[in-house]
Amino acid sequence: MSSYDVIFIGSGPGGYVGAIRAAQLGLKVACVEGRATLGGTCLNVGCIPSKALLHATHMLHEAEHNFAGMGLKAKAPTVDWKQMLTYKDETIAQNTGGIEFLFKKNKVDWIKGWATIPEAGKVKVGDDVHDAKHVVIATGSQAASLPGIEVDEKIVVTSTGALELGKIPKTMVVIGAGVIGLELGSVFARLGAEVNVIEYLDAITPGMDAEVARQFQKVLTKQGLKFTLGAAVQGVSVKGGKATVTFKLRKDDSEHEMTADTVLVATGRKPYTDGLGLADLGVELTERGQIKTNGSFATNVAGIYAIGDTITGPMLAHKAEDEGMAVAEILAGQHGHVNYGVIPGVIYTHPEVANVGETEESLKAAGRAYKVGKFPFMGNARAKANHAAEGFVKILADKETDRILGAHIIGPMAGDLIHEICVAMEFGAAAEDLARTCHAHPTYSEAVREAALACGDGAIHA
Ligand code: NAI
Repeated sequence: MSSYDVIFIGSGPGGYVGAIRAAQLGLKVACVEGRATLGGTCLNVGCIPSKALLHATHMLHEAEHNFAGMGLKAKAPTVDWKQMLTYKDETIAQNTGGIEFLFKKNKVDWIKGWATIPEAGKVKVGDDVHDAKHVVIATGSQAASLPGIEVDEKIVVTSTGALELGKIPKTMVVIGAGVIGLELGSVFARLGAEVNVIEYLDAITPGMDAEVARQFQKVLTKQGLKFTLGAAVQGVSVKGGKATVTFKLRKDDSEHEMTADTVLVATGRKPYTDGLGLADLGVELTERGQIKTNGSFATNVAGIYAIGDTITGPMLAHKAEDEGMAVAEILAGQHGHVNYGVIPGVIYTHPEVANVGETEESLKAAGRAYKVGKFPFMGNARAKANHAAEGFVKILADKETDRILGAHIIGPMAGDLIHEICVAMEFGAAAEDLARTCHAHPTYSEAVREAALACGDGAIHA
């Protein structure tokens, strides 16, 4: 039993980053984590393992499709799935171990076990009750399944089970054309599975710029993924080691079914706050089960705060990280702040898809006058040399002031390229500021500059 300035509950990107920052600011800090390793969903069963599998299978794709054209003669690659999973597990271990090291370095105590909050100012783990002036809930989220679907993590899986499948399925149905469905659908399509994606809406990746979403669907279709859009999944039944998904087409209410070796349920996530004792504490929730917080991440109960996937906003690791840092600064008497207008989103398929800020649709809905600067990677020398010329950069700027309002990229390294635009937006830059910045040649980044040029007098290479 100890006494702390702040205890973070949960060691995902929100909790561990917040804990480190709070310790750096001179507070006495602990972080409670019940998993065997630190890092939460992101490091253990989310962002990091999926990226390892995306990387390995992209290499496979390159060897199968692009080596010969570049004069590389290699024997047809074969897949050792067990070894690929070992590579993924090693990647996880390196990252989770890294956080344990950072905790020691910054003198953050790791309290092992699952926490409850018996009252404000106290955190109970096992039989021990720890005192804390401030408690920050950073317990993340869990997969939200649908009624009529029982997840067994073997045949009917969430992303967690998909990262541990005993063998590569021959057929897979993915329910939900969101980020998880498309990233993991890509992995298994590259590994040879026939992947059918069933999506409720009439477009993939809801909320994304519609032009990018259309292009993205074309690219994924070329890669072998099949899409059934406008289809509401009704349920899944398992028989003889296979799963059958039943769905209704929304346009005519007709009923259909699809059978596969594996069904991946990727229909969104919901806050994970079970067992904390929030109801007894009287912590207020939103209608969607998120913890209600004010601009300083404080709940309605004094001394209890919440960040990341447990509160409103996009369920993204980096949004949680920023909130972790901000709440630590606030608790240390500083002015922590998150700019929710500049939070990038990235889908790590190939090509990658990245966005920040407004979409054309959101600008139209708000009745704002804007201009569009677009540049295709076909006009980018580096992309052509690297066989990566699919896609484009699109920058949206205020029609009057030229201030950048949003950007959307589908193309090589989109997830890295987007940050140049994020920085520009943080500084309130105009498209002309980007256009007048010298960009090294030949780089993918030149496509960003060209899109900025296209907001003004025109791109050079289009
Ligand atoms: P999502 O919200 O991105 O997509 C869920 C999809 O399922 C939606 O398109 C929705 O319309 C569809 N859907 C819902 N009910 C359905 C039904 N009955 N029948 C057919 N389709 C249905 O959720 P996803 O992909 O599960 O991801 C969860 C969270 O994790 C998201 O907030 C995402 O941002 C985050 N994440 C982020 C990643 C990244 O940043 N690269 C990677 C993986 C997850």
